[in-house]
Amino acid sequence: MAEEINKLYSNLFSGFSKLDRQERLERLKDIGAIEASDIQFLQSGGMKSADLAEKFIENVIGYFQLPLGVATHFVIDGIARVIPMAVEETSIVAAASKTAKWIRENGRITTETLGRDIIGQIQVARVQDLESFKTAVRENEVAWIEAANREVASGLVRRGGGVKRLEVREIQRPDGATMVVLHVYADPCDAMGANIINQVCEFLKSPIEEKTGEKITMCILSNLVDSKLTKARVELDRVDPKLAEKIQEASLFAQLDPYRAATNNKGVLNGIDPILIATGNDWRAVEAGVHAYAAESGRYRSITRWWRENDRLVGEIVAPIVTGVVGGVTTLHPAAKMCLKILSISSSDELSRVCAAVGLVQNLGALRALTTVGIIEGHMKLHIRNLTLGAGATEREEPLVQKRLEQILVLHKRISLQNAIEVLKELRAQKKALSATESAT
Ligand code: MEV
Repeated sequence: MAEEINKLYSNLFSGFSKLDRQERLERLKDIGAIEASDIQFLQSGGMKSADLAEKFIENVIGYFQLPLGVATHFVIDGIARVIPMAVEETSIVAAASKTAKWIRENGRITTETLGRDIIGQIQVARVQDLESFKTAVRENEVAWIEAANREVASGLVRRGGGVKRLEVREIQRPDGATMVVLHVYADPCDAMGANIINQVCEFLKSPIEEKTGEKITMCILSNLVDSKLTKARVELDRVDPKLAEKIQEASLFAQLDPYRAATNNKGVLNGIDPILIATGNDWRAVEAGVHAYAAESGRYRSITRWWRENDRLVGEIVAPIVTGVVGGVTTLHPAAKMCLKILSISSSDELSRVCAAVGLVQNLGALRALTTVGIIEGHMKLHIRNLTLGAGATEREEPLVQKRLEQILVLHKRISLQNAIEVLKELRAQKKALSATESAT
């Protein structure tokens, strides 16, 4: 089975990065990831009218466009997937694809969801009588949940979700008083659930105030969704033990040092955010949740971990990655709808699991580069083309300038636009001298 997928996939994506844009689109159409209408939409430059934007935000003046690429070679839980990524940073898509290929050929990616419920918070800033508050919650919990499910979350209940339980949390204030936070746990099914959980909390405010006699100060969801975590695992067989040791060591660095952990997690989010953006999901919410979860032990740490097991390298990510595939931008934005189709995603759990997998793979790609050739080389190689174009090279001049810039990069480990300008100047001067000699002879 794994061998069949491998064969099929290497055929589908062999040389994909070398194709021109039209050929890539045709290839995606051939494998059923997009349709002719999507090609037309993309080639015409995406959304033109800002009318839709008016539905999302205020004071609209137009759109801000990001490049949309696809990462290839991903096989997640045995399913081959094309990964749409909306992102501006050079080499993210290439590194994800390259690392996914390495894993597809030598290992596997598996994922799972741990828990289903998102969290709403109802705060009493200074509780007057903590014990009576707890008793009132105990006595009324079932009735409040039933009312919230009937009046606010009936749609979710019909789909198997809705409000599930309440939990009282006590927080000691610096002034000696006690703050109480009532957590409302709800299963949002395939929605991200922000609106519905906020509405549930607002709805519960009056009945809670009535029964407890306490003053509720604030109601809002929490982005630290540790009750709904997504896990992905990568296993690589027959890895060079020296490389595996280096990656394990790099992972330890990110476990122990918050300064490194922040950069490590940024690299993980390089894989996650572009998918969230491409599918119209709230990436700020996921970012906030991931960072808060990374600091949950009281110390900011890496959300991924890599270790060597004999000749195998194993990695895991566990993080709150709450996504939605229905409602809001995911349903209204034509590019988001198209990207969900490219991913062939049908549930929010599936999307979260894909995000976790790509984040973990992206992390592996970065750690492999950092512990071997370094990150500059890979980044800059891809950047050379942009520098060449930026310097004003013509199509005929491009390969020569690129080749010379690659040599400079190997020699000096650095490259800039100034280098490209100088190389181009030299090249043109040589050409001029050559044609002068030719016409003289
Ligand atoms: C750059 O966008 C991301 C990295 O810094 C991540 C890392 O250091 O692990 C390369």
